[in-house]
Amino acid sequence: MLLPNKQNCTVCIIGLGYVGLPLAIAISNCKKCIYSNEELNRYVIGYDLNENRISELNNSYDRTNEIKEVELKNINNLLFTSKTKDLFKADVFIITVPTPIDSAKSPDLSFINNASTLVGSIIKERQNILEESNSIKSPIIIYESTVYPGVTEEICVPIIERESKIEYNLIHNNKTFFCGYSPERINPGDRDHTIIDIKKVTSGSNREVSIWINEFYGSFIKAGTFMASSIKVAEASKVIENTQRDINIALINELSIIFKMMNIDTHDVLEAASTKWNFQNFKPGLVGGHCIGVDPYYLTHKAQSLGYHPEMVLAGRRINDKMDKWIADQLILEMIRKGLTINGTEILVLGFTFKENCPDVRNTRVANLIISLSKYNLKPIIVDPLVDPILAFKEYKVEVNKEIPTHKKYPVILIAVAHEQFSCLEIKEWQEYVDKDTLILDLKGIVPKSMNPIRI
Ligand SMILES: NC(=O)c1ccc[n+]([C@@H]2O[C@H](COP(=O)([O-])OP(=O)(O)OC[C@H]3O[C@@H](n4cnc5c(N)ncnc54)[C@H](O)[C@@H]3O)[C@@H](O)[C@H]2O)c1
Repeated sequence: MLLPNKQNCTVCIIGLGYVGLPLAIAISNCKKCIYSNEELNRYVIGYDLNENRISELNNSYDRTNEIKEVELKNINNLLFTSKTKDLFKADVFIITVPTPIDSAKSPDLSFINNASTLVGSIIKERQNILEESNSIKSPIIIYESTVYPGVTEEICVPIIERESKIEYNLIHNNKTFFCGYSPERINPGDRDHTIIDIKKVTSGSNREVSIWINEFYGSFIKAGTFMASSIKVAEASKVIENTQRDINIALINELSIIFKMMNIDTHDVLEAASTKWNFQNFKPGLVGGHCIGVDPYYLTHKAQSLGYHPEMVLAGRRINDKMDKWIADQLILEMIRKGLTINGTEILVLGFTFKENCPDVRNTRVANLIISLSKYNLKPIIVDPLVDPILAFKEYKVEVNKEIPTHKKYPVILIAVAHEQFSCLEIKEWQEYVDKDTLILDLKGIVPKSMNPIRI
């Protein structure tokens, strides 16, 4: 087996979104191996088919807010490109394309299939070029996109074999390619847990490749790596991380529905229960985005194809998916109790993204909440400092303001997302927008209790 040189290889990242860009930067920034101190002379090719994204990155602008302008300006061994001809030099391909669900909540593997088709055609051409120069090193293709167990070797590998006409995982023949799976665990918007601070699970198509991949990631991931026993184990580990989180939040959401009926504040209960060392403090709320609300369906899809119909996982999904409607109902009830007019009343909605401190609006459940409120003819004024208003309008047909329109008190305020810009507000600043009669529904528990917010 002739594998690429770990210290000097050319690495191509396919898909430069929330996952791919920080990965490309981390590999390109690391000039010395963390565990051996050896010099690293790697070259990184960041490929994305979205030409606009490439042009923005080449102008040092990252619309996901993960990488600062100064960092993009300082890179020297990283090429951003949307041209496939730039990829022939690569020895290692890392695939970080989206894995969403379709409208029937089934896995949409079209992006990962397309990326596999592309890699298949690239390694075919690469083989021809290298054969001429007599220096054949078998390429390694690593998937990072979240999938259900089996996708890498049962779906992607056959596509690569078909396109490249090269056979997979031949240990005694250099005309071959190898694969691996290393799930990404980043948490966009979180400056304390960046890609290199999170332990990385790795896996490969045979023992030697597994070690190669594990040492490759270990060279730049400060938190270290964990070598899983197989590609399927690594795939399963990622999908259950998010499934477990979804179910844990669903439990707290269900408890918050019960506690509401009992007039008990769920946040107070959680504060009390958290004093026990092994209580896990999950917060109630909306579960949107493209990971926690999506990944469980990858697992249930695979289970169903094997004849098992998951109950608990789907129950969690159902509970979390109905929270936006339940929250809208709570708001209407509280308005009625307070004697507020519903028809035509303006409601200030703070936050539109699917999570705090991140501009991502994919599958944001705040959008569903807005739809429910609009059905009652409430007039939402949405404010989100991180959202691109043009994108929000294109995706959801809503107007998003960057700042809270000032010199105005609102009869109703809904705090939907705990962006730093909102959670750092002090009572005096809140008082610019509220008066003593304002109804505050605080989904995130960030408004001072002395202002009598209603919490879920
Ligand atoms: N965002 C997260 O928090 C997160 C965390 C862990 C894992 N993941 C998983 O990582 C994967 C990527 O997620 P993301 O959030 O980075 O997605 P993203 O939408 O931010 O980025 C994906 C990028 O891939 C590009 N792309 C799509 N098809 C392509 C192709 N065939 N060739 C080249 N580029 C292509 C898109 O243009 C886009 O820029 C998903 O499977 C996701 O579930 C995401």
